[in-house]
Amino acid sequence: SLKGLDLRAEIDRLRAEKNAVILAHYYQAPELQDIADFVGDSLDLSRKAEATDADVIAFCGVRFMAETAKILSPQKIVVLPDMDAGCSLEDSCPPDQFKAFRDEHPDHIALTYINCSAAVKALSDIIVTSSSAEIILSQIPKEQKIIFGPDRNLGAYLARKTGRDLLLWPGVCIVHEAFSETELLKLKAQYPGAPVLAHPECPGHILDHADQVGSTKAILDYALSSPSEVMIVATEPHIIHQMEKAAPHKTFIGAPGADGNCNCNMCPYMALNTMEKLYVALRDLAPRIEMDEELRLAAKKSLDRMLDMAG
Ligand code: 13P
Ligand code: SF4
Repeated sequence: SLKGLDLRAEIDRLRAEKNAVILAHYYQAPELQDIADFVGDSLDLSRKAEATDADVIAFCGVRFMAETAKILSPQKIVVLPDMDAGCSLEDSCPPDQFKAFRDEHPDHIALTYINCSAAVKALSDIIVTSSSAEIILSQIPKEQKIIFGPDRNLGAYLARKTGRDLLLWPGVCIVHEAFSETELLKLKAQYPGAPVLAHPECPGHILDHADQVGSTKAILDYALSSPSEVMIVATEPHIIHQMEKAAPHKTFIGAPGADGNCNCNMCPYMALNTMEKLYVALRDLAPRIEMDEELRLAAKKSLDRMLDMAG
């Protein structure tokens, strides 16, 4: 039993003993963010995973993020505290259906959001994250036809922002899809002048009311540099932990779902990881991400293109 263990101390001990680095996404529970060596958005986490000289990467995030770490650092042991930590965007895009879609549109290249399986990465030309998508799009010739998947909200946002025509795969993030426009408007009326910070995985009817749209890292940077004292945050609410830590005098309010609060917008996949499971993962070096070498090399091509083009 893990009862009575000082999990923080045990995790620190195992991290040193196994020469491990703990990476965490902003959507993880506060105690996981606090014990991590590095907290970041998807692009920063990929770069850290590639650059670290640790023997073990303990990834507090979802499976596609840990897979990305393994693709970029195959010689390392990559553990994910809960192997069931998936993503609705990944689930929306089975590789066989994605391949059929590509085959129907042979004149299109596939620009693909990092929130997908390694198999879909292997079927793609260039991977993007929400923080790298615009700079990457700007380097693709205007006449080039492009499939964008699996997130149709991010795709529609990019199409509108850049004036490009993107052929969209119909996937969504269940978390960002759950924000209510009616409840957001009520909150805005309650806090006049409070800027709305939104992730581009939000549908257009939420983004229409946003003052700033960007990746988790971009939203965090904006929140900290803005002179506003009160802000409304339309993304997974665990990021508010970093905002409150860095700017304790400011007020950050999570955008609500249809029930009027933000609890329904917590990511159920991210929530599977806990301190107990992180401890066990470091102790047992399991569950581990394992990947077929042929698949890894195929997926690495599109990921490497992103890392080159993101600057
Ligand atoms: P970013 O941290 O890259 O903005 O990604 C958001 C997200 O939904 C990850 O699952
Ligand atoms: Fe996937 Fe959305 Fe959860 Fe991110 S927040 S892991 S996109 S379901």
